[in-house]
Amino acid sequence: MQESMLSSRRSPPFPGEEGQEGGDDESKTRKNASFGARVFVSARSALSGQCAAISIFLFLLFVSVASFVLSRSFSAVCVSPYDPSTRALLFRATLDGLASDFGSLGVPWCRSKQGKTVEWTRKDLLKGLEEFVPIYETRPIKNNMYGMGFDHSFGLWFMARWLKPDLMIESGAFKGHSTWVLRQAMPETRIISLSPRHPGKYLKKGPAYVDQNCTYFAGKEFVDFGSVDWGNAIKKHGISDLSRVLVFFDDHQNELKRLKEALNAGFQHLIFEDNYDTGTGDHYSLRQICDQYYIRGGGHSCFIGSDEARIRMKRKKFWEKAVDRDELCGSGENWWGVQGYMRDNFNHSNKAISYEEHFQNSRFVESVLDVYWELPPVAGPSLTHQTRYDPARASDPIIEDGRFGLFQRLGLTKFETSVFNGYTQMVYLQVSPPTS
Ligand SMILES: C[S@@+](CC[C@H](N)C(=O)[O-])C[C@H]1O[C@@H](n2cnc3c(N)ncnc32)[C@H](O)[C@@H]1O
Ligand SMILES: *[C@@H]1O[C@H](CO)[C@@H](O)[C@H](O)[C@H]1NC(C)=O
Ligand SMILES: *[C@@H]1O[C@H](CO)[C@@H](O)[C@H](O)[C@H]1NC(C)=O
Repeated sequence: MQESMLSSRRSPPFPGEEGQEGGDDESKTRKNASFGARVFVSARSALSGQCAAISIFLFLLFVSVASFVLSRSFSAVCVSPYDPSTRALLFRATLDGLASDFGSLGVPWCRSKQGKTVEWTRKDLLKGLEEFVPIYETRPIKNNMYGMGFDHSFGLWFMARWLKPDLMIESGAFKGHSTWVLRQAMPETRIISLSPRHPGKYLKKGPAYVDQNCTYFAGKEFVDFGSVDWGNAIKKHGISDLSRVLVFFDDHQNELKRLKEALNAGFQHLIFEDNYDTGTGDHYSLRQICDQYYIRGGGHSCFIGSDEARIRMKRKKFWEKAVDRDELCGSGENWWGVQGYMRDNFNHSNKAISYEEHFQNSRFVESVLDVYWELPPVAGPSLTHQTRYDPARASDPIIEDGRFGLFQRLGLTKFETSVFNGYTQMVYLQVSPPTS
C-alpha cells in the first residue's frame, strides 16, 4: 500500500489537467523514515562496526570461553540505539544542538499596518485541538496524499469556526478534504468551491467528499477565482457584508495575484494554505515576498563563508525541505530566494521579476495587511516525527517537544506520522485596501 503510494507520486493529479506535475506539493503527506530513525540508522551502523571488531577480538582471545559470558559482555558494550531511553537521549541532544540556530538569523514574516494580531491564544488552540482530534478521525479521505494533512486541516477548521463566516469560498478542492473540513467547522454555512476537476470525479477511484450545500465552480463550470463576477455570485448567495466571507486558497497560484484579486472583490478574510518558505515551493508566497532585509530575520547572505550559509548547510542534513545556500541563491547569486522568478500555477507559468519589483511587492503587501498570522505546527518534531520542514523556520509548536503526555492525551499518537509532514506555514490574513 505504502509502496504503491510512493511510486504514484511522480505524476500528481494537478493542476486540474491529468498527467501534469504538481510541483512541490506532491507527497505532502508522504511517509518518510523519521528523522530519529535516520540518525539512529547511522548510529547503529557505527555501533555494529564497533561490535564486530570487539567480537573478533573477543573471539580470538577467549575462544574457549563459554558463550553465555560472551553474550553478557555484548549486551554491556553494545547499547542498542533502538532502545527507547537511548533514543530519547540521542534525539534530545541532536535537537538541542540545532534548535536555536535560526534564532540568531530569525525567520521572516509580513508586517501588518498597525501590528494588530488575532484574537485567539495558544490556550484556545489547545482547546481546539482537543475537539478536533476526534473529528479528524472521522475524515472520509483517510489518505489525502497531495492534499492537506493534520496541521493545516486543524488550522482551517479552527479559524473557520472562530470567525464564523456567512459564506466560505475555497479555491483548489482536489478530492474535497478541505471542503469537508470547512463543513465540520460550520455545519450550515454555504460554501463555494472552485476547482478545475469536480471532487465527485474522484469518487470512481476511491474516497472523495462532495458537499450537499456547496456551489461548485468545477468541471465544465470551472471559473478561475480571478475571473468570477464576485459581486453577482455573492448576491446570489444572499450575502451583502463582505466582511462575513472567508476565502481559502489551496490552488498553488501566485499569492500576490490572489491577494490582489481578493482585494478587488472586496474580501477581507483570507487563508493561504501553502505559505512557502523562502527558496521552496511552486508558487510565489507571502513569506517569500516579505523576506526582506528590513525585516528582522529577513533577507539573505549568499556569501559562502557566511553564518547563514553554514547554518543552512547544517540544517539541510536534518530536514528535507531546508534549503542550503546553493538552492537559495542559485548560480546567478539571486540572494532574495526566489531566484528571479515569481512562480505561479504549480510552477508551470513563472514570470521573471527584478529585485526592485520583489521589494516593491513586499511594500504593497504590507500596505494592505491588517493581520498576518501563521498557524504554528501542531507539535514538535520529537512528537510528530515529521522530517520535512525545519522547525526553526516555523513558530513554536502548539504542543512543545517533550510534552509527550499531552500529545498522547489529546489522542495524537494514533495518527500515522505522514499526516504531520505537510506543514507549510498556513497563514491567515485580514486585509483592507491601502490607505494612501
Ligand atoms: C493541493 S490541491 C488542493 C487540496 C485540497 N484543498 C485538500 O484539502 O485536499 C490543489 C488543487 O487545486 C486545483 N487547481 C489547479 N488550478 C486551479 C485554479 N486555477 N483554481 C482553483 N483550483 C485549481 C488542482 O486541480 C487541485 O485540485
Ligand atoms: C520550478 O521550476 C524551476 C525551473 O523553471 C526549477 O528550477 C525548480 O526546481 C522548480 N521548483 C519546484 C518547487 O518545482
Ligand atoms: C444550506 O445552507 C443554508 C444557508 O446557510 C441553510 O439555511 C441550510 O440549513 C443548509 N442546508 C443544509 C442541508 O445544511
